[in-house]
Amino acid sequence: MKFFIDTANLAQIKEAQELGVLDGVTTNPSLMAKEGITGKDNILKHYVAICNLVEGDVSAEVNAIDYDGMIREGEELAELHEQIVVKLPMTKEGIKACKYFSDRGVKTNVTLIFSAGQALLAAKAGATYCSPFLGRLDDVSTDGLNLIDEIRQIYDNYGFETQILAASIRHTMHIVNCAKIGADVMTGPLSSIMGLMKHPLTDIGLAQFIADFEKGNK
Ligand code: G3P
Repeated sequence: MKFFIDTANLAQIKEAQELGVLDGVTTNPSLMAKEGITGKDNILKHYVAICNLVEGDVSAEVNAIDYDGMIREGEELAELHEQIVVKLPMTKEGIKACKYFSDRGVKTNVTLIFSAGQALLAAKAGATYCSPFLGRLDDVSTDGLNLIDEIRQIYDNYGFETQILAASIRHTMHIVNCAKIGADVMTGPLSSIMGLMKHPLTDIGLAQFIADFEKGNK
């Protein structure tokens, strides 16, 4: 399972990278705004800064909602750095743009996926990644994990190469459950990744080891 971090915060990306388990980064317009990154030039520079921090794929989302605008923006983003993946919304225009880019060997991530039918369409359009939003489904009393499971089944039935990128991850159990289902990638906040290593018995056990070592080496 690949681990992506879902943020535009450079310090957090660096921290996850230094842990040695990071495979990529996802961003979106809201995450860029949260970091105060505004204006086209600053946004483009920020994507390059992220690419220079990590080795894997970096999803950069188009802001246009029309096909021509998506193509223009996507081409500009893809030219920025070889690690850039063009992130497109799950709309009619987004699917057409996804097909355009996949036909030209540009990596794509179709985002805002909330149904198995949308995920099937993204795969048909040749998406590199499809991003079902797990947490946002859970937020409205709908089983987000069930969607991941349905997509896994559909992609396996036909051997689609589109990778399931479980997004809108909120906590460690989302990650563990997505891994059990077989999601190819998860993207979550730093806290969800760091949370994976926590267990009180680990802390108690380590404290005991340290105490016993100190007793024997006084
Ligand atoms: O990758 C999509 C993600 O950013 C959405 O997460 O927590 O805003 O639902 P959230």
